[in-house]
Amino acid sequence: MTLTSALTDKLSEKRIVVAGGFIGGKWNTVSSRGKVFRVANPATGEVLAQISDLSTHATREAIDAAHAAQPGWAALSAKARADKLKALHRLMVENANDLARLLTLEQGKPFAEAKGEILYGAAYIEWFAEEARRVYGDTIPGHQADKRIMVIKQPVGVVGLITPWNFPNAMLARKLAPALAVGCTVVAKPAAETPLSALAIARLMEWAGFPPGVFNVVPGTDAAAIGQELCANPKVAKISFTGSTNVGKILMRQCADGVKRMSMELGGNAPFIVFEDADLDAAVEGAMVSKFRNAGQTCVCANRIYVHADLYDAFAEKLAAKMEKLRLGNGLEKDVTTGPLINEKAIEKVEALLADASEHGARISAIGDRPEGALFYPTTLVTGATGDMRIAREEIFGPVAPLFRFETTEEVIALANATEFGLAAYFYARDISKVYKVAEALEYGIIGINTGIISTEVAPFGGVKQSGFGREGSKYGIEDYLDIKYLCLSV
Ligand code: SIN
Repeated sequence: MTLTSALTDKLSEKRIVVAGGFIGGKWNTVSSRGKVFRVANPATGEVLAQISDLSTHATREAIDAAHAAQPGWAALSAKARADKLKALHRLMVENANDLARLLTLEQGKPFAEAKGEILYGAAYIEWFAEEARRVYGDTIPGHQADKRIMVIKQPVGVVGLITPWNFPNAMLARKLAPALAVGCTVVAKPAAETPLSALAIARLMEWAGFPPGVFNVVPGTDAAAIGQELCANPKVAKISFTGSTNVGKILMRQCADGVKRMSMELGGNAPFIVFEDADLDAAVEGAMVSKFRNAGQTCVCANRIYVHADLYDAFAEKLAAKMEKLRLGNGLEKDVTTGPLINEKAIEKVEALLADASEHGARISAIGDRPEGALFYPTTLVTGATGDMRIAREEIFGPVAPLFRFETTEEVIALANATEFGLAAYFYARDISKVYKVAEALEYGIIGINTGIISTEVAPFGGVKQSGFGREGSKYGIEDYLDIKYLCLSV
């Protein structure tokens, strides 16, 4: 249960993270099984922390603490809850540099990108602090002369939040903020690769004066046991999960017995379409930011880049030229634009997808240097990609840009929709009539039109089909944490 100097030497506020779970307002640095797990920097392999490896027992304690705290938290005025969230927002912004360094160290993304994530996460806290006071109900003209009908909204109760390693701060922030704003309490299970950012949020919440039990964090490597307890425990009213579709399906099965509410932000396979009338330079720029953000490890990364035959060669040339400017390396070093992948498994997956693409006739060009360090993967351009390749069907989660050629609008819409996923899609076109038709025809929850960046706290983030359900951010995001109650009054 220690933080190593590889971590603390990089922080100006060394107390910002504690190497243990946070349960009922106390730091639990001793696992009942006496186990610890290591958190390592994926860029260097250095161990950053040894953390108590909590499991079912601690999860149950955390649920009990959240359950005990929930009525008191919900009974506060919306303004009182909003004030606490605003205090958390202030602390996140004040400590943004340390939080970003922590994030880079445990996750690998470059410091500038990590700082962007911290401010993105903080923006959700601020947004939902503001929304807390706008949870309006309704009155409905009665169905009989003596009837008065009202609709009120109430917090669902205790929520279990299971968050991924690719955005260890922002994915937690955007679930936590609406939950707390409306009066739910929370048990969070961060990914074992990146628990430090979640523990730092808990630390800031402690400093902001949130009551004990309102927010609990259970770090641990036994994700299956912790997830199972969160899904099966009747004191938990809802699960919100961001991660793979396969794990999402397991959690859904586990929640079925309790008919538990869920929000699921699952895998993607984003098409990025460049039509013949696109602004070519803008499309290349958009593809760069969409594809290479977080070294290609986001659910909304361009996964299949479809380019009209008239522009294909020019697009490939311009994209390769931009890719040459990317610099892989340790995210705390100056000018690094692209960090490592998260673990060996991620490298193996990318390698397998590229081997398959090559066997099916694609041309693979690794662009730029590959620095020392096992987890760096060179940014790679794939030309001549076709629909029979695994790369067309599976989420790459790496810095690989496959280019597919198409001829007609109908053809490319059919190709773009030929997947079980439906999170984000992007396209570049200037004909306004085509813009509307394509946007309506794409079976996705989020569409970027002439832009490669769609993430913001003010808009609803979420997918359709096997990319999940529920929305995060915006006025819609708060509804995921509320029950609707209908009151019928006879006068
Ligand atoms: C994700 O990869 O799941 C989230 C990306 C984002 O919020 O932009």
